[in-house]
Amino acid sequence: MPNVKEGFHYTPIEITKELIKDIDFIDGETCLETCRGDGAFYDILPDNIVKDWCEIDMGRDFFEHTTPTDISIANPPYRKDTGDITQGYKGRINILIPWMNHQFSITNKECWYLLNGKCWSSMTPIRLNKWKVLGWNVCFMRILNIKKWYGRYYWICFSKTKPSIISF
Ligand SMILES: C[S@@+](CC[C@H](N)C(=O)[O-])C[C@H]1O[C@@H](n2cnc3c(N)ncnc32)[C@H](O)[C@@H]1O
Repeated sequence: MPNVKEGFHYTPIEITKELIKDIDFIDGETCLETCRGDGAFYDILPDNIVKDWCEIDMGRDFFEHTTPTDISIANPPYRKDTGDITQGYKGRINILIPWMNHQFSITNKECWYLLNGKCWSSMTPIRLNKWKVLGWNVCFMRILNIKKWYGRYYWICFSKTKPSIISF
């Protein structure tokens, strides 16, 4: 499979070039790429905004980043190694929900996520409602079916200013 680094799936640039068109970037807004990887999203962000990034491999841990941002983007890591090698694969814990919670806590306007099917399935009504109470609505979704990459993905926007497009 292409675009993979130690279990992380980097997004192909031809895909990010299409996805980025879904975001309305207003002059001067701030945008954070929460996990830059090879820069597939970050490198093509427009020039009219103020952009920033995190990437743990480059010394910037997203969970330590607390500067507020208008827009944030993530093709997030789904799991984190606990360091317990005796547990093998089971030693990895899910970090998607803590990741999203942190992203919501530092973003003012829109949080964009590229999620696989398993991650989208974990968006339970209870979780969606918890985030709705905090002001976050799923306002946009694009479904991607990319056979040459990893199959189906969901490009989702949670907004603080737009209404929900789904009921739960
Ligand atoms: C699925 S890859 C996505 C990379 C890139 N955004 C893309 O779409 O190609 C997830 C990235 O998250 C990074 N990462 C994992 N934990 C992190 C953390 N706590 N803070 C920042 N980056 C992290 C990994 O090193 C990896 O590059």
